[in-house]
Amino acid sequence: MKKPYDVLVVGELNVDIILHDIDTFPEVGKEILAQRMTLTLGSSSAIFASNIASLGASVAFLGKIGSDKFGDVVLRELQKKKVDVSMILSDDQLSTGATVVLVVQEDRANITYPGAMNDLRIGDISKDDLSKARHLHFSSCFLQPGIKDDLGKLFKMAKELGLTTSFDMQWDPLENWDIDVKEVLPWVDIFLPNEKELLLLTAKSKINEAIDSIKEFIRILVIKRGNKGSILFYKNKLKELPPFLNKNVVDTVGAGDSFNAGFIFKYINRCSIEKCQEFGNLTGAVSTTAAGGVKAFEDYEYLKKMVKNKFGVNL
Ligand SMILES: Nc1ncnc2c1ncn2[C@@H]1O[C@H](COP(=O)(O)OP(=O)(O)O)[C@@H](O)[C@H]1O
Ligand SMILES: [Mg+2]
Repeated sequence: MKKPYDVLVVGELNVDIILHDIDTFPEVGKEILAQRMTLTLGSSSAIFASNIASLGASVAFLGKIGSDKFGDVVLRELQKKKVDVSMILSDDQLSTGATVVLVVQEDRANITYPGAMNDLRIGDISKDDLSKARHLHFSSCFLQPGIKDDLGKLFKMAKELGLTTSFDMQWDPLENWDIDVKEVLPWVDIFLPNEKELLLLTAKSKINEAIDSIKEFIRILVIKRGNKGSILFYKNKLKELPPFLNKNVVDTVGAGDSFNAGFIFKYINRCSIEKCQEFGNLTGAVSTTAAGGVKAFEDYEYLKKMVKNKFGVNL
């Protein structure tokens, strides 16, 4: 039976309030001016959902927001990307999370109020929700303490219902890296950390040692390495793939989430794992050609032309 969605994304949701063109960082007790402000959809999970939808997948999102104006922005922006929002839970006792981004010349300082994303729990996700999709992607466990320790249960439930699964743990702001890998990773088909996160999770200083320490629990491991491309570990073999070079990087916001979107898009379309890695490298690089995490993917015709001109690839 055909399922309504290719991908169900479970993850964090918030808005980004970006204050641009600030001359110096603020000081306590003083006031300074920003020249410009942007209010946009934030969060890694939302960038992933938007971009894999822009590539052509049918996507639903499950996360928690407050019943407030920022919550409305989140819903509207996801809907613009054709992401189904009917499983998003909005709670009138909670506030939607927000990140204030101060852009001072080339630098950024971020302050996040997690709000409702703290409160997503395993009990909020039913078998019925999971059964509606072919693939489950979960991102940003350290920003979601209400569900972090139940991740093994969530992925196991998904696998038992016949879904394939992927997991990007993302950065741990507390730097504890306390995930029980033997409980979680056996239920994950594709584990997608970046290099630094993998080394910190495993408390190793070399990639080989890190892989050795978790290889009994993993099926497909993809290690993202910024402008060095990516490494795939699959069926006991390592494949290092150089990046699609972009000499004019606008910013790297969302490169990892865009890599995930490309990789999983090919995976759900039953391409070889090598093809998935190559496409992930491409969509990661594409993300660096425009400001923020979703802009480069918004218009498919533009994307097709740009990818052909810049990277010599036919989409
Ligand atoms: N400057 C760049 N040029 C080309 N590709 C890049 C660049 N930065 C990132 N990428 C691609 O995007 C992927 C993800 O970026 P990375 O920064 O490693 O992820 P994360 O955002 O999770 O830290 C990389 O593996 C690479 O393929
Ligand atoms: Mg990342």
